[in-house]
Amino acid sequence: MCMYNDNPTLEGIDRKLLGEERQGEVLEMANKVAMPVEGGKSFYIESYGCQMNFSDSEIVASILAEAGYAPTRNMEAADLIMINTCSIREKAEDTVRKRLRVFDKVKAKRPGTMVGVLGCMAERLKAKFLEEEKLVDIVVGPDAYRDLPSLVAGAEEGEKGVNVFLSREETYADISPLRLQSNGVTAFISIMRGCDNMCSFCVVPFTRGRERSRNAFSIVAEAADLYDKGFREVTLLGQNVDSYKWENPETGEPVSFAQLLTMVAGVHPDLRVRFSTSHPKDITDDVLYAMRDHENVCKYIHLPVQSGNSRILKLMNRTYTREWYKQKIDRIYEIMPDCAISSDVITGFCSETEEEHQETLSIIEYSQYSMSYMFFYSERPGTLAAKKFEDDIPLATKKRRLTEVIELQTGISHKLNAKDVGKTFRVLIEGDSKKSELDWKGRNSQNKMMIFAKEDRDLKPGDYVEVKCTGSSSATLLGEMV
Ligand code: SAH
Ligand code: SF4
Ligand code: F3S
Repeated sequence: MCMYNDNPTLEGIDRKLLGEERQGEVLEMANKVAMPVEGGKSFYIESYGCQMNFSDSEIVASILAEAGYAPTRNMEAADLIMINTCSIREKAEDTVRKRLRVFDKVKAKRPGTMVGVLGCMAERLKAKFLEEEKLVDIVVGPDAYRDLPSLVAGAEEGEKGVNVFLSREETYADISPLRLQSNGVTAFISIMRGCDNMCSFCVVPFTRGRERSRNAFSIVAEAADLYDKGFREVTLLGQNVDSYKWENPETGEPVSFAQLLTMVAGVHPDLRVRFSTSHPKDITDDVLYAMRDHENVCKYIHLPVQSGNSRILKLMNRTYTREWYKQKIDRIYEIMPDCAISSDVITGFCSETEEEHQETLSIIEYSQYSMSYMFFYSERPGTLAAKKFEDDIPLATKKRRLTEVIELQTGISHKLNAKDVGKTFRVLIEGDSKKSELDWKGRNSQNKMMIFAKEDRDLKPGDYVEVKCTGSSSATLLGEMV
């Protein structure tokens, strides 16, 4: 779901923490909070996984700040060290365990430091975590963050605490997230939680529970508040945003995702709206029309295909076929010819043949993705695939297929970006470019990062500028202001 990398709120990421799995398709990310300690007790939090986890860390920070804890970037000085974890692939969990070894050392030097494990791995392993990881004090699942202050208080009295209760209602709608490491321009808004889809490879339904949608008015209010504070882009987040469905309890009227998109787009024409992730089965023409009809809804859809072969898609329980997905792609380009589409791809799923893998390559070619997050299949305990199918593709084959997918995608990204040379885009300035303070970086509607010289103009992050593309690579566009 960045979707996953290049996210402005994730600057200062310690890239080394990302592990080998990072091949331009980062899903596991690390984020260190950059804020001063204001006296009193302090907490430090690192986040891994998808944007939902990063967004949740901001909710956690808000809950702890309310309880009198101040955020710190200095792990060694923190009274409470937390790690918000991901279980999506084995590597993601390995990374978390490695970080826990580092926390152990801090704790050895500074007894009394509390260590908390949050998020999906906490939910998956539950109390077992405390047996496996002796130095962990609290284990808290994604729906139990309101209980953090009391769990921390208990842990301070020497009582280890676990709360992994999964809720059918919790959306944290009333909590105003503490924007960690914010660039002041772009922010996430969580609009729904959980997932009811049961893709056979996926651990998320088990770690995040049932799907539920947040009060539409609280979402719009959060967007308006962000706009007032100077933010100019919001990303509406959920595992499956197109199945957003909320009923106004007063009128009984339902609000669909297309309607919500329209409501948020109405906050201000200068507030850009993005969303992620779309499940191909749920994205409707209404959503596409809402995108087309609102200039400030960005022309970019993350539409994970996973595989290009209908038999594998069936085993994956994705509920669409190759042909159906291709029609969806056609429809998007038909309604919005300038829309960029990106994807997630898994290679080497159970029993995948070489011919079936070729169909994944050909659907990538057909879809002309601007970019993709690409992974080899990693069996997750408890999932439908782990129960029903044998993980029978040798690792070397999975990796070779992955390399082929990455090479193909890189070539397509390169070619598509080269086509942008000569075009002019409206770009929202997000900040200094990574390489030079003399350059701005910002994205166009299609979510492509553009780098361009500041010149002598009086501009700041949050401003919109017209930028003509003058050069490209597979990852970024170079340009100059017009
Ligand atoms: N809700 C989003 C995806 C969330 S997980 C969606 O449905 O698109 C992000 C991506 O991780 C998935 O799209 C998938 O490509 C990948 N993924 C999930 N489980 C995996 C597994 N067991 N092995 C490898 N990749 C996996
Ligand atoms: Fe996982 Fe599928 Fe739900 Fe995405 S839609 S979170 S891949 S079960
Ligand atoms: Fe996200 Fe990882 Fe959980 S991808 S939902 S943090 S398993």
